[in-house]
Amino acid sequence: MSDVLIASSETAVTLVPITEAGVAGLPPFLRGLAEQEGFKAKAGQVLKASDPGHGRLEQVFVGLGEQPKADIFRAVAAKLAAGDYQLSEVPAGVDPTQLAIAWGLGTYRFDRYKPAKDGPANLVLPPGADAELATAVVHACALARDMVNTPANDMGPLQIETIASEIAEHFGADIAVVAGDDLHDANYPAVHAVGRAAAAHRAPRMIEIGWGRAGDPLVAIVGKGVVFDTGGLDIKPSSGMRLMKKDMGGAAHALALARMVMAARLPVRLAVLIPAVENAISGDAMRPGDVIASRKGLSIEIGNTDAEGRLILADALARAAELDPVLTIDMATLTGAARVALGPQVIPFFTDDDALAADLAAAAEAVGDPLWRLPLWAGYAESVDSDIADLKNDPDAWAQAGSVTAALFLQRFAPKAGWVHLDIFAWNPKARPGWPAGGEAQAVRALFQLLQARYR
Ligand code: BES
Ligand code: MN
Ligand code: ZN
Repeated sequence: MSDVLIASSETAVTLVPITEAGVAGLPPFLRGLAEQEGFKAKAGQVLKASDPGHGRLEQVFVGLGEQPKADIFRAVAAKLAAGDYQLSEVPAGVDPTQLAIAWGLGTYRFDRYKPAKDGPANLVLPPGADAELATAVVHACALARDMVNTPANDMGPLQIETIASEIAEHFGADIAVVAGDDLHDANYPAVHAVGRAAAAHRAPRMIEIGWGRAGDPLVAIVGKGVVFDTGGLDIKPSSGMRLMKKDMGGAAHALALARMVMAARLPVRLAVLIPAVENAISGDAMRPGDVIASRKGLSIEIGNTDAEGRLILADALARAAELDPVLTIDMATLTGAARVALGPQVIPFFTDDDALAADLAAAAEAVGDPLWRLPLWAGYAESVDSDIADLKNDPDAWAQAGSVTAALFLQRFAPKAGWVHLDIFAWNPKARPGWPAGGEAQAVRALFQLLQARYR
């Protein structure tokens, strides 16, 4: 992607932040223009003021609303034409690095198959902004969005492996991949069971990246990499299948978060664990009623082949537990129920670690990356009990809370301490300026903020 955060420019148009209360204080000419254009300095509103002499765009007033927030600059960046822009000042109370990140996120476009009509709006980095950090966050989020937007025919298990390898190589990390029938010998039976129905060139695989210096605390990052979710033999209706190219969102988010950590050289060790599979349909597909093995040794009855994400995560989380990390983060487009509970913009997270929950909520607030805690409600745990196996993947209907029962299933496999699960959506269903419809990076900026606060 191009670098929209630039060090300097000879031609930059000035951006003048202004509060709602500030409009009345503008000189008469500009006040008249504001009135004519309906500019009230609402959050993210822009007013383009040209020089009356030569008509060239001279300054752009940027509405801050009542309470300035970095987020506003996502919308602003998306509304401005190609060119360079420079702030007259950083609004009080806004962190310049977060402002720069918001700008970068706002200029994102998915242009893999169709070029954008014009170039992006560039921002001269405001004083005090950490250019390297902001650029790293923007690039990582763009990577996640590109991966999610790329359809399954161009984003199979092998493509995820290739991207993981490129990242590993770039940051001097180790990478190990176990694919196809080798998953049996390596003891990833659930990953194999979910992915074995796919075509040979789209064989299931377990990707593991290791990074960092011996002695630093180990953080495990796990991401659901279902490159396409047909539902399996319990096939999804067409409406439910339409967006399932995004079911590798957890994997994309895991790589994005890892990329941020490595770019910032945080003093942690990373274990990035990505099961990459296609939940396909063939004669070899797992069947409703099958009982499969898992890495941890627990047997799982397949009540529904469409509850595949928790199966591959079971093996990945069991692997994480073997490494004894201080913190384990998993991200997954795991349930439709998470959306029924919170909608597309707010991401539920689950943990039994109250300190971790508090830190994560604070981090989410600080960087404007909305998260909301939901409970690992023990009373629903028996909804995943099976009559013939240790547990089943389709919870009893009486428990209702599908995002909670999915998390409770994962809990049986996850490390006992310092585990947090995020049921992400990875998608904007409705475009707003700065939030184009399509792939979205969610929760990773909050998680990165948490890691920086804890380990920097
Ligand atoms: N990938 C889906 C969850 C999903 C659906 C995420 C729609 C975002 C939008 C997951 O694999 C799935 O199908 N979950 C089922 C579980 C059920 C069969 C127990 C669900 O949520 O309906
Ligand atoms: Mn599914
Ligand atoms: Zn799925």
